[in-house]
Amino acid sequence: MKVETLRWSDGVLEMIDQRVLPATFIYLSYDSAAAVAEGIRSMVVRGAPAIGVAAAYGVALEALRLLSVTDESFQRGMNEGFNTLAQSRPTAVNLFWALARMKQVWQSVSNESNRQVAMCLLAEAHEIFAEDIRINRALGSHGAELLRDGAHVLTHCNAGALATAGHGTALGVIRSAVEAGKKISVIADETRPFLQGARLTAWEMVQEKIPVTLITDNMAGYMMSRGEVDAVVVGTDRVAANGDVANKIGTYMVAVLAQRHHIPFYVACPLSTIDMSITSGVDIPIEERHADEVKGFRDFHWAAQGVQIRNPSFDITPAELVTALITEKGVIHQPDAGKLRTLFS
Ligand code: MRU
Repeated sequence: MKVETLRWSDGVLEMIDQRVLPATFIYLSYDSAAAVAEGIRSMVVRGAPAIGVAAAYGVALEALRLLSVTDESFQRGMNEGFNTLAQSRPTAVNLFWALARMKQVWQSVSNESNRQVAMCLLAEAHEIFAEDIRINRALGSHGAELLRDGAHVLTHCNAGALATAGHGTALGVIRSAVEAGKKISVIADETRPFLQGARLTAWEMVQEKIPVTLITDNMAGYMMSRGEVDAVVVGTDRVAANGDVANKIGTYMVAVLAQRHHIPFYVACPLSTIDMSITSGVDIPIEERHADEVKGFRDFHWAAQGVQIRNPSFDITPAELVTALITEKGVIHQPDAGKLRTLFS
């Protein structure tokens, strides 16, 4: 079964509700920028590239919704739509990248009728969607070459089809290696507190019959010390100009352990995730999510009442711990400011 994380259907955007996977598989429908922004904020859709694609459709939906209003109301409504989407989540740069691209298209056709503008924005959203799959396939085949036949690959969070328009970034590398005939088995960190590893990565791999073993986050060091991990491949939400990597909370811990055990630590990273305007990881905004996510899961809370809670949703892995960035343009070993500058020049 191919996972269609987002799909355009009869004038609305449909997205798999990732909050209830794997117990329940349902699509929810979205028809405005505000609704899509809420879908992003509440994590119906999550994962950096998927957030970017959803936001692009959110802009197109807003234009379609405003077809018959005056030019002035259209301008105002569209600007509000862009702002609401930009405030949905702070860390994944793909959101802002996609919105900037959509704004450029809007500006380039702003003299046209509302209908014409909406059609151009929808075409651009479709293009961002299709491009994401092409990019993931390209970076997947570059990354596949780094994995030996028989490798046990640890991943953190979910950087799979569910986190993108399709194929995935980190899981795209694994899928491409499997498609190339390699036997790969996956070790999925459960990824507290939102359990993207246990719920989403494990689900994707089970669907495709790629061998997968689930561990809790605090088991990774033990597995590495026993020689049971050959490589780590993770995704990213934003890479700074010096190669520092923001990804799901716990990624930094995995990178430190990987270095201790001489295990390569790879980051699958579309170019749209590299933010050359940010010098280093300290300047990447880190989302702090609601305390309830740490207290327990859904309605069941196990933490002592009254305890103070922190819930930073991402952390920064310094570039020096990154063996390579895997991009659609190729593999960048030991990334640093000079290599990233060259990549974009
Ligand atoms: O909070 P999430 O689930 O949106 O966090 C997702 C991650 O951290 C992913 O690893 C990252 O977005 C890369 S997805 C290809």
